[in-house]
Amino acid sequence: MKAVVYNGPRDIAVANIPDPRIERPTDALVRIMATNICGSDLHMYEGRTDVEPGKVLGHEPLGEIVEIGAAVTRLEPGDIVCMPFNISCGFCSNCERGYTGFCVTVNPGYAGGAYGYAGMGPYDGGQAEYLRVPFADFNCLKLPEDALEKIDDYVMLADIFPTGYHATELADVRPGESVAVFGAGPVGLMAAYSALIRGASQVMLVDRHADRLALAEGLGAIPIDDSKAPPVEQIMALTRGRGVDKGCECVGYHAHDPRGREHPSATLNALVGAVRPTGAIGVVGVFMSEDPHSSNKLAKHGHVDFDIGLFFEKGLRMGSGQTNVKVYNRWLCELIRRDRAKPSFIISHRLPLEDAPHAYRHFDAREDGWTKVVLRPAA
Ligand SMILES: NC(=O)c1ccc[n+]([C@@H]2O[C@H](COP(=O)([O-])OP(=O)(O)OC[C@H]3O[C@@H](n4cnc5c(N)ncnc54)[C@H](O)[C@@H]3O)[C@@H](O)[C@H]2O)c1
Ligand SMILES: [Zn+2]
Ligand SMILES: [Zn+2]
Repeated sequence: MKAVVYNGPRDIAVANIPDPRIERPTDALVRIMATNICGSDLHMYEGRTDVEPGKVLGHEPLGEIVEIGAAVTRLEPGDIVCMPFNISCGFCSNCERGYTGFCVTVNPGYAGGAYGYAGMGPYDGGQAEYLRVPFADFNCLKLPEDALEKIDDYVMLADIFPTGYHATELADVRPGESVAVFGAGPVGLMAAYSALIRGASQVMLVDRHADRLALAEGLGAIPIDDSKAPPVEQIMALTRGRGVDKGCECVGYHAHDPRGREHPSATLNALVGAVRPTGAIGVVGVFMSEDPHSSNKLAKHGHVDFDIGLFFEKGLRMGSGQTNVKVYNRWLCELIRRDRAKPSFIISHRLPLEDAPHAYRHFDAREDGWTKVVLRPAA
């Protein structure tokens, strides 16, 4: 089959590799119909991780079941399914409590597994013609009758729609509240969208890319261009000096100033400044425990200079981590099915799998108009 393979920093290729096969009776094989490129793929693409050459990338897959293992009971060939980017068992101590992003079965020695990702277990990714899905009964979300019609919406259930929603859940966003989201990439846009779905009365989205800010405005959020004035000042002006009730961090360790200089703590500290006393912050942007290639001394060891004093003084709360996609995907799927949510508004490019190297290059440069790429392996 054809698959997107990592060769080294900024070097990926569409290669011919052996087809995956059923390895355990609980596996299923899926023929991939749509598979997204994610901001998280860029950490590997940019050489910021220790992912091994030869890894098949991709963790946002949707497709058709073509084969099931002997122990799979609730799926059959022909079902159209979307897989959470997390791989989870469903029966470990974390999965049982809903923390499927922290499964302790699928990636021994670590809490959490995923397709095609550095440090997340020996699993190949879904930017390929076929994917092996472990614990398939648990991991496959069976999509409704209109799966193919709304394929561009449903494929967002693999990661960014639940992840944006998770940011608002960690921040405990309630109806009527004001929310500031940092980062208007796919994840930040989905966080703003989710905040509006949850009934927030005022949602602000901070970034400096005009195309992404325009999408925010189209949603009914207030775009904040941080290249024009410090974002905390702009947020304070919009809230009469009170600050926002809740905040979402959707950028991560590669947060930079509008001129491109990296400040891994910039968004965290801006949120501490912008959220009102006793508010809460949800952090879904990725921070790494080791970042040897960072130019920042602290960040090399996964540390940042965090405004803990102000955080404490204000009595703020903060939640963080990988999204437990399984907690949300069934319900967000219902919003799509009933036309109450249409996350495909974010897609800028629909391309064949062969175009992955070209797409990674443009998306990595955050070029104007490259918001979200869906790859469509040939039928
Ligand atoms: N927690 C999870 O489960 C999970 C899942 C998916 C993605 N992520 C992470 O979420 C983050 C965002 O993903 P994405 O796909 O939207 O990526 P992206 O890189 O396309 O978007 C990031 C955006 O942040 C903006 N930005 C950079 N510095 C900023 C600053 N100081 N202030 C405001 N905006 C700033 C950039 O201009 C860009 O538009 C990444 O770290 C990704 O790995 C986490
Ligand atoms: Zn992703
Ligand atoms: Zn588990």
